[in-house]
Amino acid sequence: MVSERMNDGEPERSVPGRQSVNKPIYVTQPFLPPLEEFIPYLERIWEKKILTNNGPFHQELEQALCEYLGVRHVALFANGTLALVTALQALRITGEVITTPYSFVATAHSLLWNAIKPVFVDIDADTLNLDPERIEAAITPHVTAIMPVHCYGRPCDVDAIQRIADNYNLRVIYDAAHSFGVQDGNGSLLSHGDLSVLSFHATKVFNTFEGGAIVCPDAKTKQRIDHLKNFGFVDEVTVVAAGINGKMNEVSAAFGLLQLRHMEAALTARKRIDSRYRELLDGVPGIRCLANSAATVSNYAYFPILVDPEYAISRDALYQNLRDNGIYARRYFYPLISEFPMYRGLPSASLDNLPVATAISRKILCLPIYPALISAEVEYIVDLIRKGAGVET
Ligand SMILES: Cc1ncc(COP(=O)(O)O)c(C=O)c1O
Repeated sequence: MVSERMNDGEPERSVPGRQSVNKPIYVTQPFLPPLEEFIPYLERIWEKKILTNNGPFHQELEQALCEYLGVRHVALFANGTLALVTALQALRITGEVITTPYSFVATAHSLLWNAIKPVFVDIDADTLNLDPERIEAAITPHVTAIMPVHCYGRPCDVDAIQRIADNYNLRVIYDAAHSFGVQDGNGSLLSHGDLSVLSFHATKVFNTFEGGAIVCPDAKTKQRIDHLKNFGFVDEVTVVAAGINGKMNEVSAAFGLLQLRHMEAALTARKRIDSRYRELLDGVPGIRCLANSAATVSNYAYFPILVDPEYAISRDALYQNLRDNGIYARRYFYPLISEFPMYRGLPSASLDNLPVATAISRKILCLPIYPALISAEVEYIVDLIRKGAGVET
């Protein structure tokens, strides 16, 4: 069952451009299934009176996600950041970790929360992910792991990263916050590395209001993660680690189960918007869409464009112009993580070390994309961009 707002089969709903749509358009809008579909889930929670602590919906969602994503084990969390912090603890990562500056701050913050020093390595200009060719040169005797990000849900060069990890005996934890449902030639993108971490934040393709998960390949690691996310409790009288309270509650887990039923339609709608943007932006001087990624199944979580110098105005002028017209595009990811005060003193944070990430962060702009965005709104956004370029529309 799909809500009317989903517009999966849109194209034509007669909204005559922006004049009649005076609400702001944000970079994303959470997909909320019809409220009446959620009521039976709430009734079950009220009946059972189990609100958290590995309750029935929590267990059901873990199982459903294993099947949906095609992975062995999923440990649910209250959010993706706690999942990242816990993933590092589960593998006892210490010292220094190689990571990307081109991500949301939580990637590097999860290292600082574990007293681990981030070592920033530049990104590849095409994938916008960690450049494997630069990783080796950044390895020090203190580096114990690599934390790459599949930025925008576009796959990292997982084979090259694994080769380096194997050669240097490093662990790999993917920040896969953007990668729900993405597949490559081997199946789920989440099966690579030692662990992958998802975010189910309200802004993500699949949301549980707040939420996250660790995907892991074996039952033993899953068990350790389950202890760590519940204060380190193994049983009533045994605490094996200084674990955190990272558990997902039953309302979020129930919402996740309902949300899963709508995923296919949501992804179809996103794909349609992605194609429409590509078609309409084709040939606008100075505007570049990212080339299709190595994914065999994409989730269209973001629609990033690069604003090159040939565009008539700067990226920031375009960003402001869109805002002035009620379009809240976002500069993901600007500034770079390495530019924030708690990171900029690190030797690896110097702009000379990160020329590609620096250049991309000055050009990037993520346009609105979400299932309820209709064609007339996409056309309106592109018209504004074309006008900025001086193109007659
Ligand atoms: C790349 C990345 N990592 C980590 C996170 C943190 O996830 P959460 O907001 O669920 O804590 C996010 C998003 O919010 C993200 O985009």
